[in-house]
Amino acid sequence: MAFPKQVRLVEVGPRDGLQNEPNLIDTATKLELIDRLGAAGIGYIEAASFVSPKWVPQMADHRDVMTGLKRRQGVTYAALTPNLKGLEAALECGVEEVAVFGAASEAFSQKNINCSVAESLERFAPVLERAKQANVRVRGYVSCVLGCPYEGEIAPAKVAEVSKALYEMGCYEVSLGDTIGVGTPLKAKRMIDAVRREIPIDKLAAHFHDTYGQALANLYAVLEEGIGVVDSSVAGLGGCPYAKGASGNVASEDVVYLLNGLGIDTGIELDRLAETGTWITQTIGRPNRSKVGVALAAK
Ligand code: HMG
Ligand code: MG
Repeated sequence: MAFPKQVRLVEVGPRDGLQNEPNLIDTATKLELIDRLGAAGIGYIEAASFVSPKWVPQMADHRDVMTGLKRRQGVTYAALTPNLKGLEAALECGVEEVAVFGAASEAFSQKNINCSVAESLERFAPVLERAKQANVRVRGYVSCVLGCPYEGEIAPAKVAEVSKALYEMGCYEVSLGDTIGVGTPLKAKRMIDAVRREIPIDKLAAHFHDTYGQALANLYAVLEEGIGVVDSSVAGLGGCPYAKGASGNVASEDVVYLLNGLGIDTGIELDRLAETGTWITQTIGRPNRSKVGVALAAK
């Protein structure tokens, strides 16, 4: 298999990276983070999450973030919308793209969005319909594709089934989430093999958390399968509030460094991205989990 010539990065730091932070981060810091990421050449930023503020207090300022951000040409600013209520609020804020998020695990679905997998798909259908009317594209996430904090092993066939449902409902792309970062390369390849039987490979994205330090290796494995969209988080920030012990996404700086080494174009300025990682981790008092970011800062 050949590597893709170009890879698109989906920067999830402002959402996935920050959603689990226990201390409320002020909106101005979030807006500066989003702006710096755009300035570094990131073309897609998941900026906010229109979920219940009772469930995820850190994302409660979603309206202020979405309406306050300085839009750059060529950058897509997206938000999570788990239901119609979230979508309507996001539309009021001028969002141009949203994402629904389901899971390949029943137990995780219940903990994360308070409904079964089947119920979640029923909830997403009107979200997709309404988004289509409003000319807003919808991305779909599937969580727990390589393991679940409650159920353990997850069958690749289950991942394929939920992914297919999201795709057929109208999601233009399905992002496959190793929510708790337990996957290994062979397992990741097998999962992709199962999903690509249902959905074209160019409609899939890899969303790997790095809890067990395997995310880059897993990415390398799925890039070889032809995956051309990678979700990542600057400085490796983050975790999911409903997956205890889960750490951040693979660091964006590390992904860009890997892709540069493979001769794959991203259009991202690594130095500026790394400076952003240093700045945000110092600002919120977190360790920088990007090895590349730390190495560049030490130069
Ligand atoms: P629910 O309690 O079943 O919903 O929650 P409900 O419709 O019964 O409403 C209950 C209350 O929530 C009501 O308020 C609603 O108004 C409010 P109350 O009457 O009690 O004052 N509500 C909302 N408020 C704001 N925005 C909304 C909204 N919807 C209802 N959109 C719900 C269902 C989905 C809302 C809830 O479970 C929730 O917010 N969950 C958040 C889950 C979450 O954000 N998880 C983290 C993101 S997913 C992730 O990180 C994984 C990913 O990165 C991929 C991977 O790594 O695998 C994407
Ligand atoms: Mg995630």
